Amino acid sequence: MAELNLILLGPPGAGKGTQAGLLTEDFGLPHIATGDILRAAVAAQTELGKEAKRYMDAGELVPDSIITGVILDRIGQDDARDGFLLDGFPRTVDQADSLGAAIEQTGRRLTGAFLISAPDDVVVKRISGRRIGKSGRIYHVDFDPPKVAGKDDDDGSELVQRDDDREETVRKRLAVYRRQTEPLIAYYDDLGLLRRFDGTLGPSEVHAHIRAAISTLQREEEI
Ligand code: AP5
Repeated sequence: MAELNLILLGPPGAGKGTQAGLLTEDFGLPHIATGDILRAAVAAQTELGKEAKRYMDAGELVPDSIITGVILDRIGQDDARDGFLLDGFPRTVDQADSLGAAIEQTGRRLTGAFLISAPDDVVVKRISGRRIGKSGRIYHVDFDPPKVAGKDDDDGSELVQRDDDREETVRKRLAVYRRQTEPLIAYYDDLGLLRRFDGTLGPSEVHAHIRAAISTLQREEEI
């Protein structure tokens, strides 16, 4: 079967992580989330984490020189040999150029860049209610609550809020997204890879639309 090398694009809170979790189950692709990788490094107090933390807390992007090598290395690992689902990378044109060059060098190619869109007021509301389980599972206090308030359905652990989910940091992250990441929409459109999805729909509707698009791409790749 042909490789599925996919990118999820979209503003903070559009639902990239939520959809990636569902799509990973459907297609067996590794979900490579830069935010999760960086948060794990912060928690483990590695050099990467110490360097990244101050940018993340300020709602800024971590410099390309820090993150690009980590992700390019990750997509070269065994479990990503048959494809990957990138969530949160690339986020700048430089990152996209590095990814494109690295993929081409290994004889692979990108299959699609999926944009999940939602307006600012929607994403701010979503992020303010987001809670995360120890397993990485994402909840929302109103839109996708756990069975027992404050506890992860999977292991009963306490749900937590991300440090960068305070409203003023979210507004900053949105401004950074508009300035540094939105140019990637035209970038991938020009390459014929962009597909757009309405992120204001419910999670299962967004999921159904993306799943159908991936199935179509899979069929096209096999022809
Ligand atoms: P990262 O962790 O990637 O954050 P983000 O892109 O800002 O995206 P979020 O995780 O906030 O949102 P999401 O779209 O995944 O939404 P979710 O599914 O959780 O990055 C964090 C930081 O790391 C960056 O600011 C930067 O500093 C650094 N970083 C990361 N990558 C980098 C890179 N490449 N270069 C440089 N720096 C980098 O959903 C949000 C909430 O809404 C949840 O509660 C969910 O339950 C709910 N929800 C989801 N979908 C729906 C729906 N359809 N309807 C109703 N509710 C929904």
